[in-house]
Amino acid sequence: MQNKKQGLFITFEGADGCGKTTQLNLLQKYLEEKGFEIVVTREPGAKGLGEEIRKLLLHYDGYISPKCEAFMFLADRAQHIDTIVKTAVNEGKIVLCDRHTDSTIAYQGYGRGEDIEKLKYLNNLATSGFTPDLTIVCDVDIETAIKRRGNDRDRMEQAGKDFQIKVQNGYREIAKLEPNRVKIIDAKASVEEVFESCKKVVEQLIKKRYN
Ligand code: TYD
Repeated sequence: MQNKKQGLFITFEGADGCGKTTQLNLLQKYLEEKGFEIVVTREPGAKGLGEEIRKLLLHYDGYISPKCEAFMFLADRAQHIDTIVKTAVNEGKIVLCDRHTDSTIAYQGYGRGEDIEKLKYLNNLATSGFTPDLTIVCDVDIETAIKRRGNDRDRMEQAGKDFQIKVQNGYREIAKLEPNRVKIIDAKASVEEVFESCKKVVEQLIKKRYN
């Protein structure tokens, strides 16, 4: 099926509770049935050291300064790209990643107010410029997202509704600035309808890359 050496790097983004993980899992199944080799991964904390960083980021029971938080996400990213993502893409696999660089821009930049241009520079440093081929942003109003999330909240999810609104607006800005890479999907509809939209953008990319 895949006739070129280089694989693809697809990231899923959105505010907490937007439903992106459900869509990522459906896409994994769909692409595997088509014969593609898929690697599913996430940030923060895919494996090993990353999992340790994730525990601190999401469950540390004390103050973490905004800059420290940003650097911890970036440290996880550097390790993740170098040890998991690049290798898989270079082996011709399709990597589906739950959150990546745009989360830092949306959460630490638009959400926490850290300097966005500096964060972009640091993202680039962490990834050595390795950029997703496609980023799907699941966009849903924050009321719906909060309902979908339930009551079990991690440290980031406890930041409140105003924070989530800033994050969501951040994603919309990111998509405006990079319309070729970043596609906003209306995630308010049913799981099946949202998946149809995801499939459409992914199939366009696959057609471009493999046909
Ligand atoms: P996770 O449990 O993976 O949440 P979700 O299922 O919503 O993806 O937690 C990741 C949290 O970390 C989420 O609230 C977003 C946040 N985050 C950042 O603030 N910056 C980042 O760079 C990344 C990767 C995640």
